[in-house]
Amino acid sequence: PNADTSAAPSFARPIATVGVVGTGTMASGIVEVFAKSGYDVVYVGRGQDKVDGVLARITKSLDKAISRGKLDEDGKSDVLGRLTGSTEREALGDADIVVEAIAEDLDIKLELFRDLDRICKPGAILATTTSSLSIAQCAAVTSRPADVIGMHFFNPAPVMKLVEVVTTDETAADVDETVRALCLAVGKHPVSCGDRAGFIVNALLFPYLNDAIRLHEAEGLSLAEIDDAMKATGLPMGPFELLDVVGNDVSLAIQQTLIGAFGHQGWQPARTLEKVVADGKLGRKTKEGFHTY
Ligand code: CAA
Repeated sequence: PNADTSAAPSFARPIATVGVVGTGTMASGIVEVFAKSGYDVVYVGRGQDKVDGVLARITKSLDKAISRGKLDEDGKSDVLGRLTGSTEREALGDADIVVEAIAEDLDIKLELFRDLDRICKPGAILATTTSSLSIAQCAAVTSRPADVIGMHFFNPAPVMKLVEVVTTDETAADVDETVRALCLAVGKHPVSCGDRAGFIVNALLFPYLNDAIRLHEAEGLSLAEIDDAMKATGLPMGPFELLDVVGNDVSLAIQQTLIGAFGHQGWQPARTLEKVVADGKLGRKTKEGFHTY
């Protein structure tokens, strides 16, 4: 059962150390969010190069903040001093909450959750930032489904305020409350939602993004024309710019999950989305997607 969302949430379970699993765009952003808010962060990647990559990305982001006058060198050292990178999942043993941000693939997530169940201390919260997979399925492979919850950050995580907090029928009320309190403590806006594919935002956003690609394919409108039109409505980015920020591989995986869950044939991934992924044009992270960077 969910906690009463009308009252301000409190830290029903104390959080001092946050664990993050993953070294991609989302994981790096999430590590940055927690470290900037004063939490000690232990993050785990599959190789030293990937662990170093997170540090490099965060350092670059902090340097940008310094150049904009939002941070000083002491502040940067403080944030970096809170980070511990490791290639060993065992390093997560003392974390009060672990947020996983690894590949958007259910089998890979299930393998991780089995391992987190073995490694993490009793009472630790096990959170996933999956954008469309089932939280209940992740919970079911652990011996502690009450401690498992969705904590869906948006890209770029350091900037976007929204976090969808996704509970299953088994998530404990104090886990839900603690995670919402944690979101507020790191300057985020938690929105509670149920465990359905795409939660709220992606269930609405991805059919729109897919339709933008189809409009381009069918009507011969250029990417720039469609992007410009949508930005002129007040959106910060056009659909193709946003696809490149999210990552076209991630977008394709989300589309496929939505189709599998809801079966709307109209949601079949647009051909060009499949093509850019097959060509390795994944978006900003590969310097080329729908646009070139
Ligand atoms: N890390 C840290 N800070 C960043 C950043 C990053 N990656 N990107 C931008 N910023 C900061 C900048 O430093 C800047 O800060 P100040 O204004 O305080 O100096 C601020 O954010 C604005 O950045 P810019 O001026 O460079 O650029 P902008 O005004 O064009 O804004 C944007 C960039 C915030 C990304 C904006 O374009 C935007 O909101 N885009 C939409 C993003 C969006 O919708 N994301 C959700 C995607 S869906 C998703 O993520 C779900 C999923 O499951 C896939």
